Amino acid sequence: MNILVIGSGGREHALAWQCAKDDKVQHIYVAPGNAGTALEPKCQNVILDNVSGASEHSAVIEFCQSNAIDIVIVGPEAPLVTGIIDACREAGIQAWGPTAYCAQLEGSKTFAKEFMAQNKIPTAAYQGFTEVSNAKAYVDKQGAPIVIKADGLAAGKGVIVAETIEQAHAAIDDMLADNKFGDAGSRVVIEQFLRGEEASFICMVDGENILPMATSQDHKRAFEGDTGPNTGGMGAYSPAPVVTTAVHDKVMAQVIQPVVDAMKAAGHPYTGFLYAGLMIDNNGNPSVIEFNCRFGDPETQPILMRLQSSMVDLVVQGLAGKLPSEANWDSRPALGIVIASKGYPETSSKGDVIAGLPEIHAKDSNHGRSSNITDTDDNSLAAVKVFHAGTTFAHGKQSDNVDADVVVGNDKEIVTDGGRVLCVTAMADSISEALQTALVVTGAISFDGAQYRRDIGHHAITRESI
Ligand code: AMP
Ligand code: GLY
Repeated sequence: MNILVIGSGGREHALAWQCAKDDKVQHIYVAPGNAGTALEPKCQNVILDNVSGASEHSAVIEFCQSNAIDIVIVGPEAPLVTGIIDACREAGIQAWGPTAYCAQLEGSKTFAKEFMAQNKIPTAAYQGFTEVSNAKAYVDKQGAPIVIKADGLAAGKGVIVAETIEQAHAAIDDMLADNKFGDAGSRVVIEQFLRGEEASFICMVDGENILPMATSQDHKRAFEGDTGPNTGGMGAYSPAPVVTTAVHDKVMAQVIQPVVDAMKAAGHPYTGFLYAGLMIDNNGNPSVIEFNCRFGDPETQPILMRLQSSMVDLVVQGLAGKLPSEANWDSRPALGIVIASKGYPETSSKGDVIAGLPEIHAKDSNHGRSSNITDTDDNSLAAVKVFHAGTTFAHGKQSDNVDADVVVGNDKEIVTDGGRVLCVTAMADSISEALQTALVVTGAISFDGAQYRRDIGHHAITRESI
């Protein structure tokens, strides 16, 4: 079986790594991938035109047809929002993800908010604006704290949690008047500030059946103590103890099932990963902060580290409308620390040489583990895997077309190539142990301007110590 994974982040590295474990899988192409996916056994990076964003997906379709691709797994939201699944289906290619219609749940906050109101899904009160003066008047009336969001896709950064009226006004000016978020910010959604603890609730959906993934929690803020600007996510762990069985049941009944039912009733059955970003209040009641139409990043990394079922089997079952209601998980928790490059999230730095990376298994030696840091996927006591995101090779290409060899070998320096660079993920007997293990490996990795949080999992660790 041959698989094409679309995307270049840690999520895609984790998806490819999981799929590679299945003996049925011969080859995994990752478009465009990163240095980590280039080095992963069975994996090869390819560059395809128009993958992320453009509505025309002919390069993907042609590639699938000429390389006997059995399944396409789409990682990021941009190609989903522009209809890559619709295009693949029309061409008779099996592709895992939601259609463009369903992906509006992530692609437009206004669509998501109206959908939640129509289907009585709990979420913060809100109003949408295109005019600066109306938006500011609304903020003045509501008071602070208040949340200002760019309507379109902004890679997790188009959200300002304003502590004061002045900050809210400044965010409105940035988005509506100064166009700081481009088209994504030409309309803003202003939302009631929700209190509680966040959790990520991610499912696989086949139009009808729902398979919840293990629960997780992400850390969106850049700095320790959950301070600083919002990012795409600085670390995550699974499971999230805040999602008790009672909370889990409420989320399924009040959030996930209504989405699946409403999409089906609208003639657009939801397929693919469905991600509800939740705020759980003190009484265990969930409110939806956002929907994503994909797996989370970095949540995928710890979640998939725990997955014992075959990812490939689950996707095949999902494509056939036969998802099971449960998957098998390692009972041990897993935790991932994101190492970001200089300037993230405002900017990012490319070309900084990364030192101290554990050696990834070279293609020709599936289980070579010669470094003193173990980059492993077996069930040793504390398993560690360094998933790559914004990385590339300093000299030499990591991919070009399918016939080209990828670069493998230690003589090729790996350098930063984006904001979030790596996600060091560890699985251990407790969250605190997973954090300590991940910190040791993270501390051995260095590059100019590297930044990471040392407090990933702090909510769960506080609970563990009670
Ligand atoms: P979003 O991109 O909508 O998920 O927002 C990014 C982050 O901003 C969330 O993960 C929360 O930490 C925070 N946030 C968004 N909306 C709200 C809200 N209504 N109340 C409190 N925090 C929020
Ligand atoms: N980690 C948050 C997201 O994937 O949107």
